[in-house]
Amino acid sequence: MCLICLLITFHVQYCALSSNNSMVFVHCNSYCKLDKTELGDPNRVFASRGSNITLPCRLHRQHGMSFGRMGMRIKWTKLSVDESLEEDVLVSMGFHKKSYGSFLGRVQLLEADDDDASLLINDVSLDDKGKFRCEVIDGMDDFIHEVTLEVQGVVFPYSPRLGRYNLNFHDAEQACLDQDSVVASFDQLYEAWRSGLDWCNAGWLNDGSVQYPITNPRGACGGVNSGAGLRNYGQRDKSKSRYDVFCFTSAVNGEFLTFNEAVQACQDDGAEIAKVGQMYAAWKLNGYDRCDSGWLADGSVRYPISRPRRNCSPTEAAVRFVGFPDKKQKLFGVYCFKGLTQFHPQHRKNNRYADVG
Ligand SMILES: *[C@@H]1O[C@H](CO)[C@@H](O)[C@H](O)[C@H]1NC(C)=O
Ligand SMILES: *[C@@H]1O[C@H](CO)[C@@H](O)[C@H](O)[C@H]1NC(C)=O
Repeated sequence: MCLICLLITFHVQYCALSSNNSMVFVHCNSYCKLDKTELGDPNRVFASRGSNITLPCRLHRQHGMSFGRMGMRIKWTKLSVDESLEEDVLVSMGFHKKSYGSFLGRVQLLEADDDDASLLINDVSLDDKGKFRCEVIDGMDDFIHEVTLEVQGVVFPYSPRLGRYNLNFHDAEQACLDQDSVVASFDQLYEAWRSGLDWCNAGWLNDGSVQYPITNPRGACGGVNSGAGLRNYGQRDKSKSRYDVFCFTSAVNGEFLTFNEAVQACQDDGAEIAKVGQMYAAWKLNGYDRCDSGWLADGSVRYPISRPRRNCSPTEAAVRFVGFPDKKQKLFGVYCFKGLTQFHPQHRKNNRYADVG
């Protein structure tokens, strides 16, 4: 076995990984630091939403032993966020194979050779993110291997029209879902913080904790003495405590229309008012940039700036939040999302969507 693993640190680096069934060797080029916690973990796989991905799992048999594939039982499960529950993904015994739940018809075994129990997942979704467990029982051998699937995307803070600190955990899950996203994990918020996210309102994460990311320590946000980092309020009561939420979303590939084309395209049937998550994904992952305030599906008005300039978010690339204006106001345009891939702003001169929200 020899494969190239993608290593994510502050820079993207490449190492070659090889094994002779009993030992794993990592051969790195000169600038590749061998820090197991940071990089080179072959048990972390990165995918984008909608892609097909392989989660590796190989049976390490004692040399010379082979029972063939027929007697081999392979079971893939996915662990819940706190790792207390397992959800069945796929079970294979001989010719009999069965997939379960949201994985039904979407997973299969790679079966590259007799020792291979790797899992192919088609059409990766945001919910697929997490730790998977591969369990192989082959005669006397019982082997367990774990792989973490990371979905590439963007984290955004969210509060609803009602204002700051109005969501219990269950409301927070629904709020993210409504905006084409899921509640972010600690790892995702941590990565976002490392990439510069600074947000002074606490929000739910999917493990039931409440945290917020600070890159510029300041008095009102946990104090200047606590340094940059994630401020953690710990686990909160999922029903009674109310905070904002950090949502996570990922792009659907898209082509952006120019403003004029968009006016036309938005008039077609099938265009929908865009969700907040769709705007963040387009902004972060596709560089979407429009200096026009427009309505989104939750009744807020925002605009995406990836090239900061005078009068358009001059100091930072950001999705700017204008507010939740009175729905009768006709001062704003509207952002539309059509079909799988297209995202278009519509100018206010067309009144068709002017009362949405
Ligand atoms: C794998 O490589 C190690 C280190 O070179 C060696 O000690 C071991 O015997 C090898 N195993 C097999 C099965 O070839
Ligand atoms: C994923 O695999 C399916 C089935 O093999 C194929 O139809 C589809 O085009 C693939 N998608 C991508 C993004 O490669």
